[in-house]
Amino acid sequence: MPVMGQQNEAVRSQAIPLCKGIERKEDNMRFFIDTANVDEIREANDMGIIAGVTTNPSLIAKEGRDYATVLKEITDIVDGPISGEVKATTVDAEGMIKEGREIAALHKNMVVKIPMTAEGLKAIKTLSSEGIHTNCTLVFTANQALLAARAGATYVSPFLGRLDDISTPGYELIEEIAQIFENYPDIDTQIIAASVRSPLHVTQCAMAGADIATVPYKVIMQMIHHPLTDEGIVKFQKDYRAVFGD
Ligand code: E4P
Repeated sequence: MPVMGQQNEAVRSQAIPLCKGIERKEDNMRFFIDTANVDEIREANDMGIIAGVTTNPSLIAKEGRDYATVLKEITDIVDGPISGEVKATTVDAEGMIKEGREIAALHKNMVVKIPMTAEGLKAIKTLSSEGIHTNCTLVFTANQALLAARAGATYVSPFLGRLDDISTPGYELIEEIAQIFENYPDIDTQIIAASVRSPLHVTQCAMAGADIATVPYKVIMQMIHHPLTDEGIVKFQKDYRAVFGD
């Protein structure tokens, strides 16, 4: 009887791609960028650090541009899973399914983001039975994540920052979900740690076992910089110039 870790290893080694750009559970933690701003996406993509993109109605509204046009542009920049959410005002399963099919038709890498509600679960069930990838969003408990996984969600998005906002440690939720998914190797659903607001959150996501952290551009830049790195660059430049000039 294999121990838990060995069992998971056996399952993972049999893992096969579902379709290009959207893989089954991997052992690597990956980064998505959490924005609808194409300049930020292009910049992060050029750095080679992002494997996908997440958007939400607030991020799209902030850009003030046509939704489908923005999503299409993103698919031209990043070759990886791109989450586009159903309209915030669509609350019935039928409407979400219709919009979900339209979002999926934009590009093979599109993932349909659906809120965690009873109607949302119905939509996830139908869309995933059609081979459409889904991301269940606004997840705040391990039970919600488990339900989304059982409905067939490709991804679940637990929101760290919004839990921290109400004095509840968000990283503990990621740990719980990661443990539960580890306990049941038949679950292929991947954890996207969302509502990431700081570099510390990213470290916490990695420690807690998130498959993916979706990170705003500002936080990516904060992760890059360190005062000692910046200071070191200035000193190297000064020492080099003193002997060799520019
Ligand atoms: C992404 O999937 C989420 O919608 C996003 O990370 C939410 O972040 P916020 O809580 O900072 O708005």
